[in-house]
Amino acid sequence: MSKLLSPAEVGGLQLANRVVMSPMCTYEVKKEDGIPTPFHFAHYGMRAISKVGLIITESTAVDPRGRISNNDLGLWDDSQVSEYKRLIDSLHYLGTKVGIQLNHAGRKAADEDSPVAPSPIEFDKSSQTPVELTVEDINKIVAEFGAAAKRAADAGVDMLEVHGAHGYLLNQFLSPATNHRSDAYGGSLENRFRIVRQVIEAVQANFAGPIWVRLSLTDYAGEGNENSMEDWQQIGRWLEASKVQLIDVSTGGLLPTGPNFPVHDGYQTRFTNELKKAVDIDVSTVGLLDNPGLAEYILQNNQADLIMQGRALLRNTNWLNDAAKALHDKEFTAFNASYERGQK
Ligand SMILES: Cc1cc2nc3c(=O)[nH]c(=O)nc-3n(C[C@H](O)[C@H](O)[C@H](O)COP(=O)(O)O)c2cc1C
Repeated sequence: MSKLLSPAEVGGLQLANRVVMSPMCTYEVKKEDGIPTPFHFAHYGMRAISKVGLIITESTAVDPRGRISNNDLGLWDDSQVSEYKRLIDSLHYLGTKVGIQLNHAGRKAADEDSPVAPSPIEFDKSSQTPVELTVEDINKIVAEFGAAAKRAADAGVDMLEVHGAHGYLLNQFLSPATNHRSDAYGGSLENRFRIVRQVIEAVQANFAGPIWVRLSLTDYAGEGNENSMEDWQQIGRWLEASKVQLIDVSTGGLLPTGPNFPVHDGYQTRFTNELKKAVDIDVSTVGLLDNPGLAEYILQNNQADLIMQGRALLRNTNWLNDAAKALHDKEFTAFNASYERGQK
């Protein structure tokens, strides 16, 4: 049996396999109330039926001002819990584990009239200049992460991912290009990490299950203009000390710049490798990993502990079955006997 499709304990969770649906915004909350709709039940249900080991639902706002768009999911209000619970119950019924990615978009809150950030620096020329957060505002946002974690716990979620990547608020604090503060939240790496530590503590105070953190391990800004790999390794060690169970390694999103090398299958796994050298907790990799042989190679060579699949699962809800065929994994079976007949 392949490592990709075998059961495993990873990141504090017992999973049916090592394929995770990477969080992906769907912008389907037409009522702008943050509440899951029938679309979300079908969208995530299809991936559960395909036997994905863990579904991490899309970026979920802890504060309505922290939405990437007004059509995002959210857990900023108790009224949002019951529909989340129904969604999670239905996905559990279909046999998958469920995580929620908690996020505040900061200066990347595209529909927000006055977005907030660590420093008043806009993303690009067409973006608004964000309002600099006061320490009181920061404390409020930290508490909002905690309150959203409590609501997620009430909804029955298996794990929570804190979104520290892709240029959203926590990433804006971590990176020197977007954090020019001179108080306890800016300056040294430790100061820039402070809000992340506080968010993790607030989430842990309200949720007993595993907590994962997604990080962008480069801004593609060039040496000297961004945190070095040694800085990210230090952040990794701090996350490990904070009892985070897994670091989900991604890249980019902070600045309008993209990769400064030719993008190829598995192009982000090199960053996972570098972080793995520094920490003893599990790490995942994401980014153009839809070739099952490559995913299996990465796992067999202990370059990562989990494979996150994004666009491959948007394209092909039968991805795991196709992967089983490609890997000659005879033990993987479709969701039920009828679906199995459809594979012949
Ligand atoms: C439509 C779309 C929406 C996304 N939304 C999110 C998100 O909400 N949170 C997040 O961390 N990453 C988000 N991502 C990034 C994916 O999780 C993933 O890291 C990226 O697509 C690279 O993996 P892939 O090559 O397997 O697609 C999104 C990507 C896509 C294509």
